[in-house]
Amino acid sequence: MIPRSPVLSALAQYPFARLDDWRAEARARGVDVIDFGVGDPREPTPEFIRDALAQGVADVSSYPRAVGLPEYREAVAAWLSRRFGVEVNAGTEIVPTLGSKEAIFSFAQAVVGERRLVAVPEPAYPVYERGALFAGAEVVTLPLAEANGWLPDLESFDRWDELALVWTCYPNNPTGATAPLAFLDELAARAHEHGFLLCSDEAYSELWFGDPPVSALQVRERENVVVFNTLSKRSSMTGYRCGFVAASRDVCDALRAFRPTLGTAPQEFVQRAGLAAYADEAHVEAVRSVYRRKREVLLPALEAAGFRSAGGDASFFLWLAVDEPSEKVARRLLERGLLVAPGSFFGPAGEGYVRLALVPDEDDCRRAAAILLGSGA
Ligand SMILES: Cc1ncc(COP(=O)(O)O)c(C=O)c1O
Repeated sequence: MIPRSPVLSALAQYPFARLDDWRAEARARGVDVIDFGVGDPREPTPEFIRDALAQGVADVSSYPRAVGLPEYREAVAAWLSRRFGVEVNAGTEIVPTLGSKEAIFSFAQAVVGERRLVAVPEPAYPVYERGALFAGAEVVTLPLAEANGWLPDLESFDRWDELALVWTCYPNNPTGATAPLAFLDELAARAHEHGFLLCSDEAYSELWFGDPPVSALQVRERENVVVFNTLSKRSSMTGYRCGFVAASRDVCDALRAFRPTLGTAPQEFVQRAGLAAYADEAHVEAVRSVYRRKREVLLPALEAAGFRSAGGDASFFLWLAVDEPSEKVARRLLERGLLVAPGSFFGPAGEGYVRLALVPDEDDCRRAAAILLGSGA
């Protein structure tokens, strides 16, 4: 047996790896599976972005530098200004990242020092917690409850002075909830007062069906705010691995010192595709319409089939309340051809719900709706 890191040994299997097993087993039994499990968009990457990538390939391929291409950082800063009305210094306050997962995972390694407490929401994307654990931090969970609009209850937490980091994710995976600016303002003010960093994962900021979500960069006191964003969902570019961190010069300096030992930055041709993507909103509007249509087909069918919509109106997730253990419900849906994620995969606070990622194409979403309405399979 090869020795493993004790943290790795203690972790349960990455929950989503189990979905792969479920899908394979169902297919082996002859079930025609429509996969709403993992949030990997299957929309085509717009052609102009693919062209920009191809044109960005130079004769000589050098190591990308951790600071990133100035043009890429300028494109991100211009987008932040247009989209959120915030001015971020492209020279000092933006660091390019390979998508956002690696940056989220490794962030605690770069910035957790004497204070070792990291607060993560639950239910949640598992990477905040895993990154903290591999960095040797102590993790505390902030439960999100439907009754509180899927926001953590700040009044019931009392370890503010021990905190190094607090993670938030709005629009939220898995619930689709958004956060009002007043909530982010309050948390950013506490971050400033108590000396921790507010890490805001905004991977889904561009997928919305009501009002456009806000960014934590818009708060009044932004010194301790660190924003992670990515082109993966906005521009259907999960395979490119292109995103950024926007934060104070101090935090970005720490990342510029840390990252050359690690993943550095996206390949320069990817950054060139990325800057083309940030300069265009038309394709984002188009992709939002596609997700909106899928949502409008599936949500009424799910409600007619007895599920209660319990989530918000952003991201590409549907979050539905169920009366039985979520894994049992997910197993039953799988036998009918719909692969969904049980809420329990996102931590105990996710029990009682299931999540659908609106990633199958529109035809498959219509087929799934027909199955739910009893006319399809
Ligand atoms: C909440 C959340 N944050 C971050 C990511 C990371 O995405 P990427 O690494 O593709 O930017 C994901 C991916 O599914 C996610 O769901």
